[in-house]
Amino acid sequence: MNFKDKIIVVTGGSTGIGKASAEKFLEQNAIVYVLDKQVPSFINKKNIHYINCDVSDFKANEKAIQEIIKNHNRIDCLFANAGQHVFGNIEETSLETFEHILSVNFKGIFYILKCVLPIMRLQNKGNIVLMGSDQSLIGKERSAIYGATKGAIAQITKSSAIDYAPFNIRINCVCPGTIETPLFEDAVEKYVNEYNIENKEIIYNSLKNAQPIKRLGQAEEVANLVLFLCSEQSSFITGSLISIDGGFVAQ
Ligand SMILES: NC(=O)c1ccc[n+]([C@@H]2O[C@H](COP(=O)([O-])OP(=O)(O)OC[C@H]3O[C@@H](n4cnc5c(N)ncnc54)[C@H](O)[C@@H]3O)[C@@H](O)[C@H]2O)c1
Repeated sequence: MNFKDKIIVVTGGSTGIGKASAEKFLEQNAIVYVLDKQVPSFINKKNIHYINCDVSDFKANEKAIQEIIKNHNRIDCLFANAGQHVFGNIEETSLETFEHILSVNFKGIFYILKCVLPIMRLQNKGNIVLMGSDQSLIGKERSAIYGATKGAIAQITKSSAIDYAPFNIRINCVCPGTIETPLFEDAVEKYVNEYNIENKEIIYNSLKNAQPIKRLGQAEEVANLVLFLCSEQSSFITGSLISIDGGFVAQ
């Protein structure tokens, strides 16, 4: 895969899957812009640029993309990855949490696409990967609103892939299962506290056993898929929702 001097934008690229992807793009000699609320720990690497950006704020997305265009006058790939997790059935989800998750996970995707697609359309070229989840495809207990945002991303992927195929822009969605990242560790911590579970190893083991592959996923494994989808090696793939979940959704 050759990303030499390609301009890559990764939202939520400071930790977890976004970080692993940003680092792999850097290894392939790309120029990577991380748009995040927190500074990446790998900020000293060559060709990494950080822009402070809350993806739930349209103006912040617009300003970040304008800065990249001012510097390079093009964007080759976008990995729209920033997202947050929340537990709760409908009754447990407050109006504030609902608005917040909708703003980050769903509106954030619309906002960044709204800023990047006109540029890629004029270039007549571009590659976009949206971050979905296994919950783009299936329901999970106490996860109606998080799942709804990820289901919405699946529909944005399919519809937009059709709309933008004539402009040589491919749009795909990755659907990870359970991946060991800070987001996952926070979720386990919350679960353990809420249910008064003594040892979080119990949760880890039950989650591992729930996967046909009998282990959890790693951020680097998802990053490999993201780079493949952004590369010419996947040139006939668009509008696809691609599971990367150790077989969880196949069950
Ligand atoms: N870890 C999993 O098991 C898993 C499974 C399926 C999907 N996902 C999705 O993968 C994506 C990345 O999650 P992760 O597990 O790497 O988590 P993470 O918490 O390690 O990374 C999320 C990143 O997004 C950033 N971020 C959060 N809110 C933001 C905002 N409003 N504006 C800008 N940046 C923001 C965070 O600062 C962080 O750098 C999320 O969309 C998540 O829903 C994760």
